[in-house]
Amino acid sequence: MQVAVIGAGYVGLTTAACVAELGHTVTCVDVDISKIAMLDEGNVPIRETGLDALIDRNRASGRLQFTTDVAKAAARAEAVLIAVGTPRGAGGDADLTHVKAVAREIARAIRPKTVVTIKSTVAVGTARLIREVIAERRRGLDFWITSNPEFLREGSAVRDFFEPDRIVIGADDPEPAARLTELYRPLIDQGVPLVVTSTVNAELIKYTANAFLALKVGFINDVADLCEEAEADINAVVKGVGLDRRIGPQFLSPGPGFGGSCFPKDTEAFAAAGRKFSCPQPLIETLVTRNQTRKHQMAKRILAELHGLSHARVAVLGVAFKADTDDVRDSAALTIIPILKAAGVSVRAFDPWARANASRIVKDVAWHDDPYAACSGVDLVAILTEWEMFRTLDLSLLARHMRGSTIFDCRNLMDPHHVASQGFRYVSLGRPAVPRVAPATAAKPAGERVHLPTLRGAAVARRPVR
Ligand code: UDX
Repeated sequence: MQVAVIGAGYVGLTTAACVAELGHTVTCVDVDISKIAMLDEGNVPIRETGLDALIDRNRASGRLQFTTDVAKAAARAEAVLIAVGTPRGAGGDADLTHVKAVAREIARAIRPKTVVTIKSTVAVGTARLIREVIAERRRGLDFWITSNPEFLREGSAVRDFFEPDRIVIGADDPEPAARLTELYRPLIDQGVPLVVTSTVNAELIKYTANAFLALKVGFINDVADLCEEAEADINAVVKGVGLDRRIGPQFLSPGPGFGGSCFPKDTEAFAAAGRKFSCPQPLIETLVTRNQTRKHQMAKRILAELHGLSHARVAVLGVAFKADTDDVRDSAALTIIPILKAAGVSVRAFDPWARANASRIVKDVAWHDDPYAACSGVDLVAILTEWEMFRTLDLSLLARHMRGSTIFDCRNLMDPHHVASQGFRYVSLGRPAVPRVAPATAAKPAGERVHLPTLRGAAVARRPVR
C-alpha cells in the first residue's frame, strides 16, 4: 500500500518506519526542512531504541523516503496518516492547529477513495470535524476519514508497534476499516486483537486509556505518601495489590510526578472533554492538579533534607521524563531544578541522553558527562529518572565524590538498608527514610528476612476472577 505519514515526530517517524517494515511504501513528511535533511542523510533526530536500524533498512530498500512536500506525498497515497503534534490548547483541549493545516493541505491533493486517518491524539469528534475541513475544499470528493490512535510508549515505541495489545480503527464506514485493516495485516495475522469501531469511540479509547494509566500512577504516588506516614513499605503494598489480575503490577511505581508529551496533556484534554460535554471529570481534574503539586512537593522535600544549609549543592541524576528517552517534556526535573535554584541551591546534573534537550530549558546548571563527576562536592544526590545505571551506582565511589551523605531517590531504585550500610542517609518514596550507618558498624537490617519454604510449585489456590 502507498502510505503518506504526515509528521516526523516521535509518533510519525516511528509509525512511518514500522509501516514500511510491514512491507508498505511510505513517504514521511515534515515541514521542518532541517529535520528532513537530517533524515535524508541517515541521521535520526530522536532517540528511540531500534528506530535507527529500522529507518536505515527501509530507506535502503526504497520502502521509506522523506520529504517536505505534503501535497506530493498525499497525491500518490492510498492512505494518509496524520501524525502531527496536538499540544495543549486553551482550556486544556488538544490544539488542532497543525491537524487542520495538514487537512487543508492534503485536501487539494488526495485522490478519490483515499483513506485519511488521524493518528495524533485528538479531542472526541475531531475526525468528523476534519472530514468537513477536507470536504469544504474538495466538494464531491469521495474519500474517507478515520481514526487510528497509537499507544506507543517512548523508549519502547518500536516494540510497542510490533507487539501492540490491540489495534484500534475508528471508521464510520466498512470500506476504510477494511483498507486500514490491510495496513496492519501482518500484525493481525499474528493474532493482535483488532477493535473496529466508530471514530468517536476510537478517539475516546485513546484518551480513556491514557487517563486511566495516569490515574494508576497518580494513585500509587498518593499511596506511597500514605505508606511513609503509616510506616508501611510501598514495594510490599504494590506487590500484594499488583498480583490481583484485575489490577496488574504495571504503572504502580511511585515517582516524582508523571511527565512526557502525553500524560499531562491527555489528562488535561480528558478533563476538558468532560467540561465540553457537560460531564465533568473530577477524578481526572484532581489528578492533573495533584501531579503538578507533587513535583513541587518533591522539590520541597529535597530542600528539607538540606536543613537550610547555606550554599548547598545538589546533584540531579536524570532529567528525562522517564528512562530510555531523551525527551524532557513536562519532566519533573524541569519543575524541581528551578525551585532548588530559587532557594539558593547550586545544581549539578547528569543524564545519559537528555542533557541537550534539558539544557535548552533549565539554565545555570553545571552539566557533567558522568554521574560521579556530577556528584562531586555535593551535599545531596537526587535521582529523578529511573535510568538503569543509577540502580547500580558504585556507592563507595559516590561517597568519595560527595561532600554530604544524602541520597533522595524519587524512583526507589536502591535497597534502603544496603545504601545506609554504605554510609548514606537514604530517602525514597513510600518507604521509611533510613539514617546513615557508619560503614564500620553496619548492622544487619532490622527484621532480617526469615527464609520461608518456597511456595514455588505449590498449588496456590486462586480466587476465580469475578
Ligand atoms: C504514554 C502511554 O503509556 C502510551 O500508551 C501513550 O501512547 C503515550 O503516553 P509515555 O508518555 O511514553 O507513554 O510514557 P509512560 O511510560 O506511559 O510514562 C509516562 C509518565 O508516567 C512518565 O513520567 C513515567 O515516569 C511515569 N510513570 C509511569 C510512573 O511514574 N510510574 C509508573 O509506574 C509508570
